[in-house]
Amino acid sequence: MSLHPDPLDYPFWSAQGLDPYPGYPALRERPLARVRLPYGEEAWLATRHEDVRTVLSDPRFSLAEAARRDPPRTTPQVSHLGGLVGNDAPDHTRLRSLLGRAFTARRVERLRDDIRGIADGLLDRMGDTGPPADLVEDFAFPLPVTAICALMGVPAADHPRVRAWADTVCSGRVAPERMRSEAAEFTALLATWVEERRREPADDLLSLMTGACDKDGTLSEEEVMILVNEILVGGFVTTASQIGNSFSLLLHPEGAGRHLWTRLRADPGLIPQAVEELLRYLPLFNGMPLSPRYALEDIELGGVLVRRGEPVIGDLSAANRDPAAFPDPERLALDRSGTSHLTLGYGVHYCLGAHLARLELQVALERVLIRMPQLRLAVPHGELSWRSREFFNGLHALPVTW
Ligand code: HEM
Repeated sequence: MSLHPDPLDYPFWSAQGLDPYPGYPALRERPLARVRLPYGEEAWLATRHEDVRTVLSDPRFSLAEAARRDPPRTTPQVSHLGGLVGNDAPDHTRLRSLLGRAFTARRVERLRDDIRGIADGLLDRMGDTGPPADLVEDFAFPLPVTAICALMGVPAADHPRVRAWADTVCSGRVAPERMRSEAAEFTALLATWVEERRREPADDLLSLMTGACDKDGTLSEEEVMILVNEILVGGFVTTASQIGNSFSLLLHPEGAGRHLWTRLRADPGLIPQAVEELLRYLPLFNGMPLSPRYALEDIELGGVLVRRGEPVIGDLSAANRDPAAFPDPERLALDRSGTSHLTLGYGVHYCLGAHLARLELQVALERVLIRMPQLRLAVPHGELSWRSREFFNGLHALPVTW
């Protein structure tokens, strides 16, 4: 039974397409809100930028504690696996220092030409078979899927299975029984890659992880499996959705992004700022609440006393439109400085693939701008079909022509 009257139902499914939930301004006016998710215990919801940052970075908030609780969640099954997002220090530190080496800005920057090559190959194919084309299936998804699978060392023949598994995980509505059987199948497939790398190490993440398991025991066998899964699934659905969403905004003939598209065509040097502002502006996490953090002691947050043992969820989309952090937050602006958006997280769990995500988003804009400057929507914007009630805000398809 709730000690707090009238918790709000969360996530806020009412938001359509790329419109942020209209109730955010009122929520940010008051300190924390009480929310009830479809499953698990009630939680506090932080919506102000400053409070969300604190929840994500203060070590008195624990992610690992969720393993001992009935965490607030959108699916019947508890998906708390450990891995990076499920651990606190010192286990998190051990995993992160091993994997962080592979994702530094310098190492990722070396991939720029390879990722340009992947993008150009996809655009060549679109050019050969179209117009029209579906920018989601023909470009936004295969670009990051190919990139993360290549980094991981997944054989090309298995890329479609990685894509299918991530679709299952992120759909948010697969029955527990089917989820269990597909998870078992995917785990068996993962095990074949791991064994392959044991026999024949290469310059990829699978080899890095199996080496860390076999040579010095830095990772357990189970951790290798969890991390491969976490990096593969986390490593493309987000970026793919953000690419599709960005183009739907930029190509909308009457929308806020049209002006930005014109500016980028005139000056592609603005692409890095545009990528950053689009990460702030587009609400990517509509359906997936960030993993709840449990207070390890009584903590005052935004004027509310969060009792020891209570979970708090940070709402990134609300924080990213907080006028206290971003002046005129509803405006797309390329000249923002100072406070950073929280779309890639904050603190020790800050996105492992942040440099890679930025690189892929920049390359996606750059290659389309250079190769297909006349790209436009092939259907009225109002007819675009959005994946509703899934983890990430995204499109089923983005029909384009040129
Ligand atoms: C636009 C693309 C992306 C977005 C918006 C995004 C967002 C995020 C966010 C918000 C977190 C923090 C989660 C939390 O604190 O609970 C995170 C963590 C993580 N992301 Fe990303 N991500 C993106 C791309 C990627 C890519 C390309 C990879 C591939 C390596 C990746 C792998 C991870 C991993 C492994 C973590 C866990 C880090 C940790 O707990 O130390 N992400 N991401």
